[in-house]
Amino acid sequence: MSIDPSGPIGADPLERFRVAAAERERAGLHRALRARPSGGDGLLDLASNDYLGLTRDPRVTRAAADAALSWGAGATGSRLVTGTTALHTALEESLADFTGAPAALVFSSGYLANLGAVAALTGPGTTIVSDAANHASLVDACRLSRAAVVVTPHLDVAAVDRALSTRDTEHAAVVTDSVFSVDGDLAPLAALHEVARRHGALLIVDEAHALGVIGPDGRGAVHAAGLAGAPDIVRTTVLSKSLGSQGGVVVGAPEIRAALIDTGRSFIFDTGLAPAAVGAALAALDVLRDEPWRPARARENAVALAGLVAGAGLVPNVPAAAVVSGLVGDPHAAVAAQARCASMGVRVGCFRPPSVPPGGSCLRLTARADLTAADLSRVENALASLAPAAAS
Ligand SMILES: Cc1ncc(COP(=O)(O)O)c(C=O)c1O
Repeated sequence: MSIDPSGPIGADPLERFRVAAAERERAGLHRALRARPSGGDGLLDLASNDYLGLTRDPRVTRAAADAALSWGAGATGSRLVTGTTALHTALEESLADFTGAPAALVFSSGYLANLGAVAALTGPGTTIVSDAANHASLVDACRLSRAAVVVTPHLDVAAVDRALSTRDTEHAAVVTDSVFSVDGDLAPLAALHEVARRHGALLIVDEAHALGVIGPDGRGAVHAAGLAGAPDIVRTTVLSKSLGSQGGVVVGAPEIRAALIDTGRSFIFDTGLAPAAVGAALAALDVLRDEPWRPARARENAVALAGLVAGAGLVPNVPAAAVVSGLVGDPHAAVAAQARCASMGVRVGCFRPPSVPPGGSCLRLTARADLTAADLSRVENALASLAPAAAS
């Protein structure tokens, strides 16, 4: 059917988006993309998730280039069709070995690993108990799962226990970040596992901010809690932070891997992770094995940064890993503080609603293993320039 361009004009379908954009602007919640020049913008980067400083490591970038030259620029298809190369298999074996899990399955992003794992391992007939501060990808995964979802207060193990004991479904799963992405605090994994196990529930743990930073030589928080071999724990994590690449992974029992290959929709209906990203992650994992000083240095730098945040009059978190935050409260003030730091040569992250609850706007600084004493004194100067505003 052809459309008559001179036909009657209805309501402008874009008007409501212009109105909503103006409202976001007024509330200080407008977001803008800023293109990064390839050689860097001269600012010290404390906004990225490159915790170990590996994204530009020549061993990692060379491996990415070699993988693209050998396997092509793209994976060419779903993992189940043509998208699994020998490199994907090698990466899965290496990730399973490093994390102490029997099996691993790589996804094309951490977001999709969470969607795939939570949706495929739960569903109608399952109750998911989810921490209120979980990452958006876990929140979205819960929504997609069509399971009954109970959101419990942050870090409240007793509430998790209650939700599991009062559920009216046969199956259950407890879902949590291990290191929370904004506040940088640590989930009580041993207690959660005890409760989950008592109620016959799976424990699904997102280790995005823990892999490469905490646990023995960066093996993550589940490993640190002595739970790496627990068959009822499923771990998801990303290749896009400590490993300096892109992609996501689920590690756990072989039964979990098999379930995800057969029923994980974000695995089945998605093109496999690009070979360059696979090669880079594999090389980064080798660097991490060879250079265990990196996780320790990232954590030391996080403690130093938290001290500088406190010195600037902001309320810092107690960093469990490399995420350091300083509460500002008002979104306009948080954006202004971020701009002030940039003008002083330091790029920091700024989190506003809906990434954080109303009134929770904050600066987020990510510690890196490769920060020098000179870098830290540059941060000190930048944060000191906020002190009058923060104190007022
Ligand atoms: C806790 C957490 N989980 C999952 C993700 C998603 O990972 P990716 O960016 O690789 O999709 C992120 C990333 O920002 C994260 O912070």
